[in-house]
Amino acid sequence: MLWPLFLLVTAIHAELCQPDAENAFKVRLSIKTALGDKAYAWDINEEYLFRAMVAFSMRKVPKRETTEIAHVLLCNVTQRVSFWFVVTDPSKNHTLPAAEIQSAIRMNRNRINNAFSLSDQTLEFLKIPSTLAPPVDPSVPIWIIIFGVIFCIIIVATTLLILSGIWQSRRKNMEPSEMVDAEDKRENMITVENGIPCDSLDAKGGHINDAFMTEDERLTPL
Ligand SMILES: *[C@@H]1O[C@H](CO)[C@@H](O)[C@H](O)[C@H]1NC(C)=O
Ligand SMILES: *[C@@H]1O[C@H](CO)[C@@H](O)[C@H](O)[C@H]1NC(C)=O
Repeated sequence: MLWPLFLLVTAIHAELCQPDAENAFKVRLSIKTALGDKAYAWDINEEYLFRAMVAFSMRKVPKRETTEIAHVLLCNVTQRVSFWFVVTDPSKNHTLPAAEIQSAIRMNRNRINNAFSLSDQTLEFLKIPSTLAPPVDPSVPIWIIIFGVIFCIIIVATTLLILSGIWQSRRKNMEPSEMVDAEDKRENMITVENGIPCDSLDAKGGHINDAFMTEDERLTPL
């Protein structure tokens, strides 16, 4: 009678702690690197201490004061020590939000490191950056931002230059004495600016329109 229920409960527990499961965190330890000859073996007692340290950290979080060692589940422990852990609620049928675990671990990082004689580099909580670590190389984004700003300024300045050129040549076009000069300038503009209105080409009444006509006549038979 109780067997199905027992199986269901163990199945739920097995599901809660899994690699890449929701709210699960991976931990990687480099005990040999950190301690050399004085390295200790990672065994079930070390696991118990780790679970106790996580429970201790969680108990300082508001509304999580009742966290017990039994609520911290470890799984997929590997020989070259790495493992996953989750923290469950007292009913043990769902895991606590990752954000709460993250902040709890962060605030107690030094205590946890000291418990295992390890450092931020040799006791890694993947996906939980340590508070002491400097922000990830800020120089690269800043250079990208500066480059973007300069690029925008150049584009805006170029646009303004082109626009002022168009305005200037239009204004000079009104004065007959500088007609030739203006036409020279406008011809330059035409090569630079494709968006020049058609009527300004017509105003020239010159060879450009003829060129288009012949081009059209050549293309129509095809
Ligand atoms: C984690 O452990 C479970 C059960 O021990 C196993 O079925 C699963 O394949 C393991 N996953 C990884 C990624 O090692
Ligand atoms: C899960 O927890 C709820 C209360 O949060 C409880 O009512 C329910 O019975 C629990 N389910 C299992 C399978 O333990």
